Amino acid sequence: MNDKIALVTGANKGLGLEVVKQMYEKGYQVILTSRDKDKGMIALKDLEKPDNVWYHPLDVTSEKSVSAVCDYIKNKFGKLDVLVNNAGINYDTWQNAVNADLSTVKETIETNLIAAWRMAQAVLPFMIEKNYGRIVNVSSGSGAISGMTGGTPGYAVSKAGMNVLTIKLAADLRHKNILVNSVCPGWVRTDMGGSNASRSIPEGAKGIVHAATLPDNGPSGGFFRDGRAIDF
Ligand SMILES: NC(=O)c1ccc[n+]([C@@H]2O[C@H](COP(=O)([O-])OP(=O)(O)OC[C@H]3O[C@@H](n4cnc5c(N)ncnc54)[C@H](OP(=O)(O)O)[C@@H]3O)[C@@H](O)[C@H]2O)c1
Repeated sequence: MNDKIALVTGANKGLGLEVVKQMYEKGYQVILTSRDKDKGMIALKDLEKPDNVWYHPLDVTSEKSVSAVCDYIKNKFGKLDVLVNNAGINYDTWQNAVNADLSTVKETIETNLIAAWRMAQAVLPFMIEKNYGRIVNVSSGSGAISGMTGGTPGYAVSKAGMNVLTIKLAADLRHKNILVNSVCPGWVRTDMGGSNASRSIPEGAKGIVHAATLPDNGPSGGFFRDGRAIDF
């Protein structure tokens, strides 16, 4: 076990749960979080060696919930080294920009962009204090402006915004050993990606873990898939 503490949002299933597994297998101490406590506890129980995995409830859209998890981190660990902003919703293939239901778009931006931003702001004091941090924004090729076409309007805008957040945070945190990157996991067979997706969950999670475990001389402010830079 190493002394690094990582927190993964939306980790009761899919890519988030697999990131927890791959991180603890690398010796990280991992806080598995979920908005639904029962689902989180079931996920924790299903892990084979939860000796370096902890659980705390976390709804990333709730300021109160974010504040509660920060109190927990402060009291139990006194620091946080890695944040994986994985929680995400509404791959809205059923609508387009012309007819999009804007309340759905707003909800998508709240969860996929504003909540990731809120999480980063909440944990940055821990990282700045220790002069160490890795923030991974789990984004999507759908949010890449280069080559962007129609479809999935709320989701694409939210992930494009998340990519801008990555660039802004990385610039603000330059020289503080806090590396901030966006990662696209590819098209993955999760509840969101569906059963026809081309990649397994472990394959998709690998690139996220790569960015979460970068060395001090690693990149910041980039967009990656499988550890390789891709265009924003
Ligand atoms: N699968 C793909 O092909 C693909 C491709 C590109 C990017 N991504 C991104 O990868 C990330 C993980 O997606 P996935 O495929 O693993 O999807 P998933 O299986 O649907 O998992 C999404 C997770 O986010 C959680 N979540 C949603 N709203 C939340 C909130 N307010 N607070 C805390 N947790 C919340 C969900 O919790 P509940 O179980 O309670 O709903 C669930 O644990 C997302 O950001 C997604 O956009 C996925």
